[in-house]
Amino acid sequence: MNLPHARDLGSDDIARTRLHVQPPTGWLNDPNGACRIDGVYHVFYQHNPAGPDHSNSHWGHASSPDLIHWTEEPIALTPTPGSIDEQGCWSGCIVDDGGVPTAVYTAVHDGPHNAVVGLARSDRTLRRWLQDPVGKIGNPDDPSIAEVRDPFLFTHGGKRYAVQGAGHPYGSPQLLLYSCDDLESWTYLGPLLTIDDPIAASVAPANIWECPNIFQLGDSWVIILSLWRQIDAYHQLFGVRYLVGDLVGSDGDELGFVARAGGTVDDGDTFYAPQALVEPDRVLLWGWAWEGPHRSAAQIQEAGWAGVLTFPRELMLDGDVLVSRPATELSGLRTELLEPDEDGTISAHTFEIVASGPVELVLADPTTGFRDQVVRTNGPGRILVDGSIIEAFGDGASTTTRHYPTATSRWQITSTADYQVWTLN
Ligand code: FRU
Repeated sequence: MNLPHARDLGSDDIARTRLHVQPPTGWLNDPNGACRIDGVYHVFYQHNPAGPDHSNSHWGHASSPDLIHWTEEPIALTPTPGSIDEQGCWSGCIVDDGGVPTAVYTAVHDGPHNAVVGLARSDRTLRRWLQDPVGKIGNPDDPSIAEVRDPFLFTHGGKRYAVQGAGHPYGSPQLLLYSCDDLESWTYLGPLLTIDDPIAASVAPANIWECPNIFQLGDSWVIILSLWRQIDAYHQLFGVRYLVGDLVGSDGDELGFVARAGGTVDDGDTFYAPQALVEPDRVLLWGWAWEGPHRSAAQIQEAGWAGVLTFPRELMLDGDVLVSRPATELSGLRTELLEPDEDGTISAHTFEIVASGPVELVLADPTTGFRDQVVRTNGPGRILVDGSIIEAFGDGASTTTRHYPTATSRWQITSTADYQVWTLN
């Protein structure tokens, strides 16, 4: 992995990853701006370089020629004092706009209630960004919509559209639709999806839908939503759901989404705000894996970092079920076959289990008696471990979770099925 300073900084911190996108220090949340420009993959992420807390949102950046070797790049977007994004460059996407890589992001000036769509443009290295000081569109004039954010662009019938997540902390979520063929000129077309849709109501209950994605898989359209809910004085993140259906209506404000089915994108306890990259022959997805229930706020402060991007996954539909698999390229990380001890114990930092049947993975520390079930798969599947991130894949939703190895802990595999363990490098 080519994140040299990340590895140096974390060399004595075995909870850090070696093959994932993770900034050298500070905070990471949502993946942003996933794109492939002139053959190079780029992924950006919400980033506070000053410390491991969710504030002061910049766009961090990593690039890769092949989805397996990543280079940490200079920070792309920085909040500009006195401008539309002075309180944060929140989530968004990147489009190649007539040859100009353009970040379309959530510019936050004074809190989440009146964010605007901001634009930033770069040359094709994606290293030199110019943030436009003029916001392109704000909230619709509708008191039921208090917060709007996270533009995601798509094309349909030769025209460019955007969706944004929206809702009200004490009300209902909505997915808003815009036309934006000319990125300087946005037209709000109304909601594309509301909680009146019975499938959305049962699968994706929330007060605000964040970080929407919309893309075609085969003949179907898929919408991905992250669920934000207000619970008493706090908000909580309730995971990530998908809807499968059709885009109906030919054009503009006649466009509608009719859901047919829906489900969970990832059933782990630390996965949120994924972003899709639509390629000609596949759809890739990265998510944010936050520090899980096994790491306290004090431990996060002490570590000085929080948040990891997942490995890129490929999405496919099995009927109307959304299936996640590790991106094909990740098999290229397999280096050596490992022989577990008789009790299934292995000593490795970064490895993959490939199994023909159910597997249970445990993190155990023989010196303290600590023993924690990490993940259990139900059938043939793969489990990828890199420091403290664990990603499991079977025939449906993925499972992303976080557990923290120490100098004296060991991973332990229990399975009656055939399985192999590969080191990854
Ligand atoms: C999701 C989110 C987005 C927002 C960003 C701010 O985790 O709340 O809706 O743009 O994080 O960092």
